Amino acid sequence: MKIAVVGSGGREHAIIKALAKSPLAEKIYALPGNGGMSDIAECVAVGAKDIPAIVRFAVDNAVDYVVVAPDDPLVLGAVDALEEAGVPCFGPRANAAVIEGSKAFAKGLMARHGIPTAHYADFSDEKAALGYIDGLKEGKIVVKADGLALGKGVIIAENKAEAAAAVRSMMSEGKFGASGNTVVIEEFLTGPEVSVLAFTDGETVVPMVSSMDHKRALTGDLGLNTGGMGTVAPNPCYTDEIAAECMEKIFLPTVRAMKEEGRPFKGCLYFGLMLTPDGPKVIEYNCRFGDPETQVVLPLLESDLLEVMLACTEGRLKDVEVRFSRGSACCVIMASEGYPAAYGTGYEIVVDEGCDCEIYYAGAKLSEGKLLTSGGRVLGVTAVADTLEKAVEKAYDGVKKVHFGNAYYRLDIGARALAAEKNAE
Ligand code: AMP
Ligand code: GLY
Repeated sequence: MKIAVVGSGGREHAIIKALAKSPLAEKIYALPGNGGMSDIAECVAVGAKDIPAIVRFAVDNAVDYVVVAPDDPLVLGAVDALEEAGVPCFGPRANAAVIEGSKAFAKGLMARHGIPTAHYADFSDEKAALGYIDGLKEGKIVVKADGLALGKGVIIAENKAEAAAAVRSMMSEGKFGASGNTVVIEEFLTGPEVSVLAFTDGETVVPMVSSMDHKRALTGDLGLNTGGMGTVAPNPCYTDEIAAECMEKIFLPTVRAMKEEGRPFKGCLYFGLMLTPDGPKVIEYNCRFGDPETQVVLPLLESDLLEVMLACTEGRLKDVEVRFSRGSACCVIMASEGYPAAYGTGYEIVVDEGCDCEIYYAGAKLSEGKLLTSGGRVLGVTAVADTLEKAVEKAYDGVKKVHFGNAYYRLDIGARALAAEKNAE
């Protein structure tokens, strides 16, 4: 099969590496990909949001299957356009991708179907939003822009005054553009966070191994929120008992609800969960694989990713086996110092011989045979081992073998997970 993967980050590199192992995969294109993955995929200069160009490329090159990985093209209808042109794909149609594209939709879905989540209200009128905040108890309040905002549209306000300022920044100061025309205001929840990615064909749902993201930029959970600075899998807070509860109260009800509302979700559905004192609750849904969750989850997948994806597309997920190894994985993101704010690029990336970790490139480009940094998150170093402790240690050994100017990485990826593991013993 000729396959095209839409997107350019570490997540896409991990997807491509997993797909390349399939005996069915003959040729893989990355649209647009990045220089760091050009050894296993042919990178084509087609923007991930340029849907007409993606469709044209797939049709002109007789591509058999397209995996649409990022949120933007999914929400913009890339899968709908490809299907109309007769190209099968992995990923939800636009009417299902709305589960990530609109937080107000997602909250409404959970309210309509009794899926546990934080109490909330949504507003497209600023005055009404401010009035609502005024009537709340003093304390922490969460304000979210309705639409896509590169993972930055969530403000945890310390008090009512900060929450009101957050609403104003979104609704009248245009901080997140049109994404902030509607806001969701919700109750502040506490508890460990768990990411669960799940394969679904619209009916059957198969959760993958759980993971833990590290969203803040700096060691010690300090600094700005980022797309994610590192991950571990599995997440030790996510016990078998909690997994069973999530399946019954969250995963199956969500997939059923989407189908019932005429929006069957096919692809990878990402559940961002918080394990609160009142049980697991949904913090957010994403309509796609997480980044960098994918860089720890897929290395643990033992089944053929392409077979599983095709089963999702063709509505026969219940008939395939999805098997994960019992080991652990850790991914440390190496970023350009300054990310997620301003940073320099153009530094050469050198990997020493004998680095026995997987490297997933994100912000990297090829220039005259050299690999240079070109983005905020430059690459992820992933190690797999039979225990979490060994995986973390091996990933940091790997990091020491990767060099580029301005490199920055957190020193505590996996630390919280290891502490939770100790606690559970
Ligand atoms: P999101 O972009 O929706 O993943 O939100 C970013 C982060 O904000 C999450 O990973 C949580 O740590 C935090 N967050 C979002 N909603 C809530 C909430 N209702 N209570 C507490 N923390 C939250
Ligand atoms: N790492 C979080 C996300 O992909 O949204």
